[in-house]
Amino acid sequence: MLLVLNGPNLNRLGLREPDVYGNQTLEDLERQCEAWGAELGEAVTCRQSNFEGQLLEWIQEAQEQGFTGIVINPGALTHYSYALRDAISGQVLPVVEVHISNVDAREDFRHKSVTAAVCKGKISGLGFLGYRLAMEYLTDQDS
Ligand code: DQA
Repeated sequence: MLLVLNGPNLNRLGLREPDVYGNQTLEDLERQCEAWGAELGEAVTCRQSNFEGQLLEWIQEAQEQGFTGIVINPGALTHYSYALRDAISGQVLPVVEVHISNVDAREDFRHKSVTAAVCKGKISGLGFLGYRLAMEYLTDQDS
């Protein structure tokens, strides 16, 4: 059972900088993740929040809620949130960081991720497909 988390501003997908993030919405992404979960035989729960503390609580509670892995796109929190980093490293589930855009090809401040080092890995620049690849990895860990 996988938890897919999207952080700040990802509720604006489809409206926000479509040249960078594409024309599809968060709802499109979440339906796609559920469909991929069905193909992989994994139940998927998708959540989005603009609030750091809400994301921390979802991560802290994930194991006791029965999740076996977490896909997270932390949005801009990636680049500075030590609280998010501590929440990820403070729990036992495997976590994969995903970015829709290629953060390494963008502004300098996006080149640093404070969270990636405590994740199993990071996928960046492959659009929504990155979520699918992260889900495949976590499904393999789960079997
Ligand atoms: C993002 C990249 C971040 O730098 C940015 O702040 C986002 C989205 C991505 O998916 O490409 O909000 O995580």
